[in-house]
Amino acid sequence: MTEKLLFFFLLFICLAKASTSTPSLPSNIHNKTQSPKHFVLIHGACHGAWSWYKVATLLRNSGHNVTALDLGASGISPIQVQQLPSLSEFVEPLTKVMVSLLPNEKVILVGHSLGGAVISIFMERFPHKVAAAVFVTAIMYGPTLNFSTVHAEVTKGRDFMDTQYRYDNGTNNPATSQVFGPKFMATTLYQLSPPQDLNLALSLVRLFPLYNYDVIKLTKEKYGSVRRVFIVADQDHGIVLDAQNYMIKNNPPNEVKVINGSDHMVMFSKPVELFCHLQRLAITAMHGNRSGCYSLKFNMLGNSSKPIGTSAPATRNLYYSFDVGLVNFGYIPTETNFVEGSKQLEVLKRDLEAVDRKKTPFVVLQRHRPMYTRSNERGDAPEGENAGAFGV
Ligand SMILES: *[C@@H]1O[C@H](CO)[C@@H](O)[C@H](O)[C@H]1NC(C)=O
Ligand SMILES: *[C@@H]1O[C@H](CO)[C@@H](O)[C@H](O)[C@H]1NC(C)=O
Ligand SMILES: *[C@@H]1O[C@H](CO)[C@@H](O)[C@H](O)[C@H]1NC(C)=O
Ligand SMILES: *[C@@H]1O[C@H](CO)[C@@H](O)[C@H](O)[C@H]1NC(C)=O
Ligand SMILES: *[C@@H]1O[C@H](CO)[C@@H](O)[C@H](O)[C@H]1NC(C)=O
Ligand SMILES: *[C@@H]1O[C@H](CO)[C@@H](O)[C@H](O)[C@H]1NC(C)=O
Ligand SMILES: *[C@@H]1O[C@H](CO)[C@@H](O)[C@H](O)[C@H]1NC(C)=O
Repeated sequence: MTEKLLFFFLLFICLAKASTSTPSLPSNIHNKTQSPKHFVLIHGACHGAWSWYKVATLLRNSGHNVTALDLGASGISPIQVQQLPSLSEFVEPLTKVMVSLLPNEKVILVGHSLGGAVISIFMERFPHKVAAAVFVTAIMYGPTLNFSTVHAEVTKGRDFMDTQYRYDNGTNNPATSQVFGPKFMATTLYQLSPPQDLNLALSLVRLFPLYNYDVIKLTKEKYGSVRRVFIVADQDHGIVLDAQNYMIKNNPPNEVKVINGSDHMVMFSKPVELFCHLQRLAITAMHGNRSGCYSLKFNMLGNSSKPIGTSAPATRNLYYSFDVGLVNFGYIPTETNFVEGSKQLEVLKRDLEAVDRKKTPFVVLQRHRPMYTRSNERGDAPEGENAGAFGV
């Protein structure tokens, strides 16, 4: 009997893992957002639009518009690196997108790694077209911290191993382009990412042109007027934590978010976490700081009209459920009426009755407030009372 249980437990773990290791989440969580935005995703050195395939899918499934671009000589761009004499030709694909936006349209720019330097140029050139800029463990120079200084800090002590260089200006001049080597990628950029993604990258990386971005000066008035979020990857060996913190300290963004357990390729090693930060930003970029407004982010099962806070809009849909592997998870906000006769109980009953125990023999119900509590905090029922109210 115990062995049988153990078997089911292990089977459940495997199935749960199998279904969570893919970037697609249960469809009833990630229903269309009520705040669709236009995200423009800019890859890092040697990479291309393809590097966003997981995050772009999650964003599009949530109803956002996504433009993932190949910069010059990147991804499937027909241009060769020798055909890009200057920075402006290299970033031309992003210039095209920015000038084609409608008069009142704003985008959220997301830059990874060296892509951070690229989005900075566009924050300076089109500040009124950028709702927010996200630096995903990215180069973040600024009005009082130039690119040369950041570049030196980021590459300090870095061993580029089998990375290869081109010297189109002669070997007496600095290298004009570079392509990361397989060993460098495996150990320094992709060490925590799925091996499939490393292998995809090994067949797709290209020579990347090297420029001095200091030709574009960033100003407080323009660049500085755009809301900036930095996403820290704590296990990044490419732009190490110290270098990330150096940029954060010397060119402070409005917000810093940490994704623990991520290597340099956050979009491969922690795509769901990155997506969640972007999704949250889609709300806060336009509505101010309302990080708790889940009802704005997702369509959920419920239909409460109780406001959750003074500045928050009514929470129309706080209760929901979804299946992962062999488990049906249900969530109920116990600060919203859940007693006999309430809408919430009605919805929950309907949801539980619809559970197919052959497909999900395990049913887990979570509530916000504890079942039994000795606390007299506001919102908690006195000892014991809360427990009986729902009869679970
Ligand atoms: C999510 O969307 C699907 C398809 O649009 C719909 O059938 C389903 O009812 C939605 N789920 C919730 C919880 O709103
Ligand atoms: C998304 O793209 C569609 C089609 O181009 C457009 O109608 C819509 O306004 C866009 N939405 C956002 C949030 O950019
Ligand atoms: C960058 O800043 C450093 C330190 O402030 C300064 O020494 C250097 O000349 C600057 N370089 C450029 C290209 O502006
Ligand atoms: C290569 O030489 C050209 C022409 O002198 C110059 O404009 C360009 O900046 C140089 N490239 C690099 C990477 O130094
Ligand atoms: C990340 O890890 C650090 C150190 O272990 C911890 O202090 C921090 O709370 C974690 N942050 C997140 C967002 O998980
Ligand atoms: C948003 O609000 C939370 C909770 O009040 C606070 O911790 C956070 O610092 C705020 N963020 C910004 C960018 O104001
Ligand atoms: C949600 O509540 C509103 C207002 O009370 C009502 O009009 C609507 O029909 C309800 N929707 C569902 C799915 O219960």
